[in-house]
Amino acid sequence: MLASELPQPDCAPVRSRIFGEDLVAFRNSDGVIGLIDQFCPHRRASLFFGRNEECGLRCVYHGWKFDVEGQCVDMPSEPADSNFKDKMQITAYPTREAGGMVWAYLGPRVLMPPMPGLEYTELPESQVYPTKIRYESNFVQVIEGEIDTVHVAFLHSRLADLENSATAGTLAGRYTARDRAARFHVQDTDGGILIGAERNAEEDSYYWRISRWLFPFFTMIPREPMGPVSGGALVPIDDENCWFFRIKWNPYKALTPAERAVNDFSGTILPDGSWLNQANKSNDYLIDREAQRTKSYTGIPDGRAQDAAMTDGMGAIVDRNHEHLGSTDQAIIRMRRRLIQAARELEEGVEPYAASHPESYKVRSGGALLPRDVFFTDDPTVWDDITVK
Ligand code: FES
Ligand SMILES: [Fe+2]
Repeated sequence: MLASELPQPDCAPVRSRIFGEDLVAFRNSDGVIGLIDQFCPHRRASLFFGRNEECGLRCVYHGWKFDVEGQCVDMPSEPADSNFKDKMQITAYPTREAGGMVWAYLGPRVLMPPMPGLEYTELPESQVYPTKIRYESNFVQVIEGEIDTVHVAFLHSRLADLENSATAGTLAGRYTARDRAARFHVQDTDGGILIGAERNAEEDSYYWRISRWLFPFFTMIPREPMGPVSGGALVPIDDENCWFFRIKWNPYKALTPAERAVNDFSGTILPDGSWLNQANKSNDYLIDREAQRTKSYTGIPDGRAQDAAMTDGMGAIVDRNHEHLGSTDQAIIRMRRRLIQAARELEEGVEPYAASHPESYKVRSGGALLPRDVFFTDDPTVWDDITVK
C-alpha cells in the first residue's frame, strides 16, 4: 500500500489483501507499521474495526490486543492471573517504508532477504512519486502489457498521431507511430530481462525503446533519454486481481508537478475505496464509439483504462492455449520462461537469485536515438542512463 494510506500514528487501520491473504495494516503509536491477519484468533472478528491505541490493535469484540509483531499483549476478557495471552500469537509480517510505499516480507523469517535495491527506494521524497490503482486481472497479464511497447502505437494512439509526429517534442512522439513493427532484442539479466525495441527513425538512425522486467513483478517502461522513469509493481491481491503501483522517479533532480501528473492514477480512481478507475469493467471502460471513430484508436478515455480494458477484458486468467504469439511478443515469451523456471526451481528449494542480490535491481529503463550500426547496449551514454551507480 501507499504509506500515505496510514498517514499518522494510531490512525485508522486499513484492510489489505495480498497473495490471497486477508490482512490488516495499522501504524502504531510509535509510527511503526504492523501487518497482521485480519481476523482475530479469538472468534475471528475482523480487526479492521479494531481500536488502534497505545502501541497495538485491539479487537472490539472482546478486547484482545496485538502488537506489530503479532503478540497478544492484553486479554481483558480472561482472569487477571491467566497466562493465555502470552501463548496467543497472530500472523504478522515484517514491514518497511521506502519510496512512499509500505513493503512487507511474507516468506519464512529465516530467509528474509534485503530490500531489492530499486533506485526509488533510496531517493529523497522530492524525486519519487508513487500512485496505485486496482486491476481486475491476474498480475502476469498486466506485466505482459507493461513490457509490450508495440501496443502503444495502437491502443494508446490518437488518430492524428502520425500527422503530428513531425512536430513532436519527444523521441516517442516523433517515432513510435511511424514504425509500428518494432524489432525486439531481449537479454537475460540477473534481475530479470532487458528489452530493446528497435524502430526505424531517420535514414541513418534507429529509435530504441528500452524497458525492463524484474523478478517477480517489477517493470520499467521506456522513457526519454535522461528523463524521469516510470516503474510498475504488479502486486497480486489474489489470482484474479492485482495492485498496480506506478512509481515515477527522477534519478537526477526533483520531479516537477508536470512530471508527477503523467500517469498519475490518483486523479481518476473512484472515491469509494475500491481503487478502481472510474472507467472500469462494470461500465465498459466508458468507451465512446464516436470518439473511437473520430479521435482516438479506442474511444476509451485514459491510458490506464485502455490498458485495463485489454488485460481485464481477456478474463481474469486468460487461457494462453488459444494465443498465437508473434515476433513482437519476444519479451513476453522470455519473461514467462524466466518466471516459470524460477517457480519450478523454488519448488525444488532453490531460492531466486535476485531475491538475495539487491544490486540486480539497480537499473532503469531508457530510450535513445542511435546510428543504425550501434547496438543499444554498446552506447556508453545509453548504458550510463539505464544503470544505477
Ligand atoms: S473475537 Fe476478537 S476478542 Fe473476541
Ligand atoms: Fe499500455
